Amino acid sequence: MKIYLAPMEGLVDQYMRQTLTTLGGYDACVTEFVRVVDQLLPSKVFKRLCPELNNDGKTSAGTPVVVQLLGADIDAMTANAVRAVRLGAPGIDINFGCPSRCVTRRNGGSFLLKDPNKIHDIVSSVRQAVDNHIPVSAKIRLGYENTDLALDNANAVQSAGADFITVHARTKVDGYKPPARWEWIAKIKDELSIPVIANGDINSVKEYRRCIEMTGCEYIMIGRAAVSYPDLAAQIFHDVRNQEYTPLEWRQIHTLITHMSEIMRIEIKDRFALARIKQWLVFLKQKYPEANDYFKIVKTFKEFEQLEDFLSLNHSVLEQ
Ligand SMILES: Cc1cc2nc3c(=O)[nH]c(=O)nc-3n(C[C@H](O)[C@H](O)[C@H](O)COP(=O)(O)O)c2cc1C
Repeated sequence: MKIYLAPMEGLVDQYMRQTLTTLGGYDACVTEFVRVVDQLLPSKVFKRLCPELNNDGKTSAGTPVVVQLLGADIDAMTANAVRAVRLGAPGIDINFGCPSRCVTRRNGGSFLLKDPNKIHDIVSSVRQAVDNHIPVSAKIRLGYENTDLALDNANAVQSAGADFITVHARTKVDGYKPPARWEWIAKIKDELSIPVIANGDINSVKEYRRCIEMTGCEYIMIGRAAVSYPDLAAQIFHDVRNQEYTPLEWRQIHTLITHMSEIMRIEIKDRFALARIKQWLVFLKQKYPEANDYFKIVKTFKEFEQLEDFLSLNHSVLEQ
């Protein structure tokens, strides 16, 4: 089995990838999408979204970080894929799922789910241009408005030579509404011979087991729950191996928050780092009631120093 950390624009950046992969369980991460219009992007764009390119394409924990591209221009997608690989990307993923309007208006992301031939041509061109040993994959939803083309799109990805496919089991119109339709992942898995990565609503070890049973997949991708339950991949990893594992307590989550604040503080503007921690607390609230208590206080902060003081004070309290 393999566990992937999902690409999530504005939520899973290098700081979150570094934080989550140190906890173990992940086999690979995928970057936020690199938006490709009709030009070859400068190297700095890739390095900004994937600073891990300076570390052999891996997080500091050694987990490979695949670069995701989003766009509809075949030549530009191909040229940028080649550039990403030259810069050290250990894999290329192509986004056919992003629902946001600014993306679909430019005919990228989920809009392409209306056109299996275009999907085929983009994946095929990228696959042919990129070194054989570098995996090329695609991430799809079940369709745009409905699931009519789900199998056609999946087949298009396979026949184009992709090494694997990730299926987020919702249509564009479904948005992020639960439940994800895992029965469709099972249908796609039956149809294809390449590995299928199941994605959507894998929120616990129990849901993981149910998803694997229903879809027959060996590979999964965890999205929002990876941020709400930072050690979910580790929990699944140990469960699969029948190994004892004690899920993280709040005290340990506090340490993770402090650590991520420290690494962000060194590299980015204070306000932005503060906003990211507030955002993370909102996700953590789902699992840890203490995150709610933190959030009520942290949301009033305007300066990063206030957060630092707060974390340091609570560190002393938690250690007592
Ligand atoms: C805030 C946010 C940003 C996302 N950004 C991307 C992205 O850049 N590329 C992509 O392929 N999917 C993106 N997704 C979709 C996720 O990768 C994933 O497919 C989706 O959240 C379903 O998985 P989940 O139910 O485990 O969260 C995003 C999702 C969210 C919530």
